[in-house]
Amino acid sequence: MMASPAPHDPPSAAPAPGTIHPGWLRVMHWLNALAVIIMVMSGWRIYNASPLFDFAFPKGATLGGWLGGALQWHFAGMWLLFLNGLLYLALNLGTGRLSRKFFPVSPRGVATDLNAALHGKLSHNDLRHYNQVQKLAYLFVIVDIVVLVLSGLVLWKSVQFDLLRELMGGYESARRVHFFAMALLVAFVAVHLVMVALVPRSLIAMIRGK
Ligand code: HEM
Repeated sequence: MMASPAPHDPPSAAPAPGTIHPGWLRVMHWLNALAVIIMVMSGWRIYNASPLFDFAFPKGATLGGWLGGALQWHFAGMWLLFLNGLLYLALNLGTGRLSRKFFPVSPRGVATDLNAALHGKLSHNDLRHYNQVQKLAYLFVIVDIVVLVLSGLVLWKSVQFDLLRELMGGYESARRVHFFAMALLVAFVAVHLVMVALVPRSLIAMIRGK
């Protein structure tokens, strides 16, 4: 008779054999993508109500219809982004997946892999291993989302998060931090989508797990 797992066995982040991405990671990735789309599109509508710069986002690319509606989408999306992101970080840190999948990463390794990619010589045979450019891009976007959430907290409750507000150089400066972190996130998504289109097998793996 097979022994059943002890009730206190630590959760494993390792995918089953043959699996490229475990189920929990896939669910979290797609929830995160949904949250990011909601946050960016409603954020653009909020920006349009009081633009920081000399331009507005096209209305068709925004969510919420009017300022009040966009704020409601932004606050709803915020909880999805925050709770899903917190769980993603906790699972990745707690199981050691973060260091296994994203480290080591070095400037020399990134340069070598970038050079190989530009010459069409980067292997995509084993999708379980990220190349150094991917590692850097994914680590960057994780940190960028943390910056977005922290600067968002300052804009939402600037009196309560006064230390954070001062660390960001005040309310107006936190607005700029929030805007540029959004712009970098959108740039990441654009490059990410091109990369996925170049290796469509990776999309199947992020949907089906293998
Ligand atoms: C919208 C915001 C998005 C963000 C912030 C994002 C971020 C990420 C991150 C951090 C990873 C690595 C996950 C890990 O291993 O822990 C990843 C992987 C991946 N993402 Fe996204 N993603 C987004 C949207 C999308 C979309 C819309 C698609 C497809 C249409 C997509 C397709 C993929 C695929 C296929 C992988 C696996 C790449 C590989 O195995 O080579 N992502 N994404």
